[in-house]
Amino acid sequence: MIYQKLKGTVDWLPPQSQKWRLFQQKICNHFEKSGFSFIETPYLEKTALFARGTGEASEVVQKQMYSFLDKNEESITLRPEATPSIVRSYIENKIYGNKGVEKYYYFGPMFRYERPQRGRQRQFFQYGVEIIGTQDAKSDAETIAAFSYLYQSLHIDNQLRLNSIGCFQCRPPYLEKLKKYLIQNKSSLCEECKVRVEKNPLRSFDCKKEPCQKTLEKAPFILHDLCESCKTHFLEVQNYLKYLGITYDILPKLVRGLDYYTKTAFEFASTKLGAQDALSGGGRYDELIKVLGGPETSAVGCAGGFERLLLVVEEEAPKREGVFMASLGEEAEKEGLKIVTELRNEGIRCLLSYDHKSLKSQMRQADSAYVKFVCILGENELRSRKVMVKDMEKSTQEEVSLADLKGYLDQHV
Ligand code: HAM
Repeated sequence: MIYQKLKGTVDWLPPQSQKWRLFQQKICNHFEKSGFSFIETPYLEKTALFARGTGEASEVVQKQMYSFLDKNEESITLRPEATPSIVRSYIENKIYGNKGVEKYYYFGPMFRYERPQRGRQRQFFQYGVEIIGTQDAKSDAETIAAFSYLYQSLHIDNQLRLNSIGCFQCRPPYLEKLKKYLIQNKSSLCEECKVRVEKNPLRSFDCKKEPCQKTLEKAPFILHDLCESCKTHFLEVQNYLKYLGITYDILPKLVRGLDYYTKTAFEFASTKLGAQDALSGGGRYDELIKVLGGPETSAVGCAGGFERLLLVVEEEAPKREGVFMASLGEEAEKEGLKIVTELRNEGIRCLLSYDHKSLKSQMRQADSAYVKFVCILGENELRSRKVMVKDMEKSTQEEVSLADLKGYLDQHV
């Protein structure tokens, strides 16, 4: 029996896994520089957290969660997103007591049972940020800017789509209006949207079916029914973005697929992605902390799909790194192992071969491991306490005494 990975999951193998690590580091460094602190929460949570947080009416909760009963008959879910977990942790650890603004970033796997396709997996990684503890429009702009500048630094062309979806004051009367419109046009809606009219009419905007999309083009939009406070906030966000030179398109039908958003909602899209064009998405969620049992606290955040980002970043030539020790003969192999261990202890990435391979075979192995240097240690070299160091980039080589090897590599690696 040969086992295969689950549908919608990916193995990252060398050398592509090097690209994975490199961009993970670039993203994390970028968020660190932008003043966010790393947060890691469990991948398993109680199902109720997402049902309540992400929202009962959302597609994610209705169709996509990996939920199961554990041995204690408790319903557990593999997190489909991190925002409810971070809010849970914020409340559970009483971080709100600090009365300050918390800025978190995260990088980790999420799980959603979706139909796999390019850019859509069942296990995928998200990079994201959350700013908790302020309703200042500056924090919306700061979140958007963190993603915009990240894409800029990685040379990723993108479109920022922006909207405001109101608050718990202006949304209920708007929803009545929308409901009325949808009931009038019920015959042109799909079966699912007919149910949505009653349960959560805003979700109809997420429907991908052509007749529903067409019907919703003429629907009333929340953007045109905002209360004064939401209007002012939205203008402030836009002014900050303009000031930062971040261009955007206002998309009144952008509502985002999760239930907790209030006011600002946004998405970064890439034309290079095809059907699944959202690089990332986020928005403000001023009610979620209260809904999950915490004190009234405003927040804003955003998350992006890491595999999608890897699909659109320019292919960089893998960087040659470290050293390969090619040893020939029993004594040299023993000495080679010792040198490798010492160099590794000094922080130099070092590889070696097994099974008494020929020099040619070891050179081939070194080349595919993408090292910068190969140290060749034969019996002659061993006798004169020297190694031949070959630079794999420049195709040059020189003899270096064993005593000077570490210094030489330090200078050149
Ligand atoms: P989301 O829009 O559900 O938002 O997901 C954010 C991003 O994750 C998407 O734009 C997409 O790039 C990626 N993504 C989602 N599903 C998949 C999938 N099946 N395969 C690959 N990539 C996927 C959230 O998750 C919110 N928690 C974002 C947020 C943070 N809002 C406020 N704070």
